[in-house]
Amino acid sequence: MQPYLDIFTRVVNDHLSTPRPVTQAPQLDHLSSKLDMQLHQHGADLATLEQCLKDYLDYNPDSSQVGFFKQLYAGRNEPAVIGDWIASLSNVNMHTYQVGPVATLMEREVIKQWRALVGYQQGDGMIVPGGSQANLIAIMLARHKACPTYKTEGASGARLRAYVSDQAHYSSQKAANILGLGTDNLISVASDNQGRLCPQALTTQIEADLALGYQPFYLGLTGGTTVTGAFDPVQLCRQIADQYDLWLHIDGAWGAPVLFSPQHRHLLEHASLADSFSWDAHKLMGVPLAAAAILVKEDGLLEDCCAGGGDNYLFHPDQYSHLNLGPASLQCGRRADVLKIWLSWKSLGHEGFAKKVDTLQELKDYCVEKVDASADFQRLASAPYLNILFQFKPANLDDEVTLAALNTAICQTMAHSGGPFVDYASFQGRSGIRLILANDRTTQEDIDHFLSQCIVTGQSLLAEFV
Ligand SMILES: Cc1ncc(COP(=O)(O)O)c(C=O)c1O
Repeated sequence: MQPYLDIFTRVVNDHLSTPRPVTQAPQLDHLSSKLDMQLHQHGADLATLEQCLKDYLDYNPDSSQVGFFKQLYAGRNEPAVIGDWIASLSNVNMHTYQVGPVATLMEREVIKQWRALVGYQQGDGMIVPGGSQANLIAIMLARHKACPTYKTEGASGARLRAYVSDQAHYSSQKAANILGLGTDNLISVASDNQGRLCPQALTTQIEADLALGYQPFYLGLTGGTTVTGAFDPVQLCRQIADQYDLWLHIDGAWGAPVLFSPQHRHLLEHASLADSFSWDAHKLMGVPLAAAAILVKEDGLLEDCCAGGGDNYLFHPDQYSHLNLGPASLQCGRRADVLKIWLSWKSLGHEGFAKKVDTLQELKDYCVEKVDASADFQRLASAPYLNILFQFKPANLDDEVTLAALNTAICQTMAHSGGPFVDYASFQGRSGIRLILANDRTTQEDIDHFLSQCIVTGQSLLAEFV
């Protein structure tokens, strides 16, 4: 192990001590000529491996840097990184208590704490590789409730329909495909001008579907949408779910951490009214990928829905079998992703995550003020959370197609010059720059710098677009 540890230490120290751009945005042909991706018959020596690791760190974007505004994660949760490394060293498997007793107890504690934050007095939960799998399990639970024989007998002819808003993450589409519902039976319900699902449009759609003989069974809300950070109205939707006997899920993959903050948890008020809840630790909590959870209000339902098999060799009826997490999981082998979550939570406490939410919300308010005060920008959506969607918009330019192309070019040009690294997105027919604030090391000066870079880059490109 020692020679590899020596490489590891050198590569990590070099990475942490050498300044570099947030992204080198390398062209594919440059990468292909620079890096040897091929695997060969004979193994490589240690020096080659060391260089490969350096290249990996150098040519991938550095999401720990302040200039990384592109995705719903940024910065570095240091205790979580250490937890991630130690999880690999120990290589515990989460299916049985016997092969991961400490990790199993940690996962039980983390799930209990997350459930309490949502407001579930009882229930279950499971750490999963991401919000996509959490949303998939939510739909599976809903189907299990609506059609208990689906698990054993398969489709019975029921024409099931699920509902999300037109701002919901695409993972629900994937789930409708995987679960055999058919993506046409996942209905996108209109959202309002703030990106929140419209209850009235939902009711109208459900009534129309009932008249056509469909069986509505699932309503998926989002707490913190991917593009604008909107929070769907939970209480009203609970009433609709009760009226039509729907499972109510909240996808809190991005927005759930507001529940840590006494100041901002009102954004997810009534979260406990949902039957299930998705929570990504690898987004705002800053835990390295992959780390997420599905939380369920009803005790035992997760296992009832997911369990099957493995009794002949894995799930032995021993004194600890009641602690085995495997039966309620969709996976057999499962990494101890809990360690990085648990370790950073142990290190920061609830208050550490609350402070992160509060700091970033304050920074968001500052940024929104600057955008609104600038004659060069126009905001495209309200910003209740940490997404700010805005356009660089010269006064004489109104054509949305041209504005979309200009704003896309701004993002790409800034990336090619080393940053800031930010994405573009569209909302209700208009496209702009989607700034995500997820790194609490970001300062007001960083925001000023970012916005001025957008203006300078936009002005330099303008001639190409008018
Ligand atoms: C609201 C929301 N839900 C779910 C997901 C999917 O999560 P994951 O990438 O962890 O699968 C995302 C990803 O961006 C998201 O924004």
